[in-house]
Amino acid sequence: MRIYLVGFMGAGKTTVGGALADRLGVPFADLDEAIEARAGRSIRAVFEESGEPEFRRLEWEALGDLASRPELAGAVIATGGGTIAFEACARLLAATGLTVWLNPPFATIAGRIGGLGKRDRPLFRDETQTLALYRQRLAAYRRCDLTVDVAPGETAPEVAARIAHRIAERR
Ligand code: S3P
Repeated sequence: MRIYLVGFMGAGKTTVGGALADRLGVPFADLDEAIEARAGRSIRAVFEESGEPEFRRLEWEALGDLASRPELAGAVIATGGGTIAFEACARLLAATGLTVWLNPPFATIAGRIGGLGKRDRPLFRDETQTLALYRQRLAAYRRCDLTVDVAPGETAPEVAARIAHRIAERR
């Protein structure tokens, strides 16, 4: 079973995902990286040159690939902040793994994705617009199999340990 980390930009999907994969001794894959490899350019370039619909198409294709590769059957996979908000991707996630919503407070998210974060996050414009997008996506995040509330200051290995215990409880 794949473990998909879900959540808004800056929730820590990539860092916690890496820590969780290390802890479980399974491979780790990052959907944003897979999209960039498939596109042969950065996510920002895809948004700027081809627009969001093309980005979402590439995202769906890249997810389909990660979801079907046999060597990733037990992997931890970090998704993008918008992945589960798009129905075709949401269906693919539900059908091929366990979804885990990483849920830090919005203030933590905003602190992480402002400033330098803007460079590689084309959907971050300002805090007001970002809060609106976050609220719009909450319903999709809430449909995850597990919700993991993340306290400010909690480290990636600490969060990974909690997720590992929650998953073990379900088995
Ligand atoms: C997006 C989040 C980004 C990336 C793209 C779109 C979104 O991923 O997939 O910029 O729609 O929220 P991260 O959540 O890893 O930053």
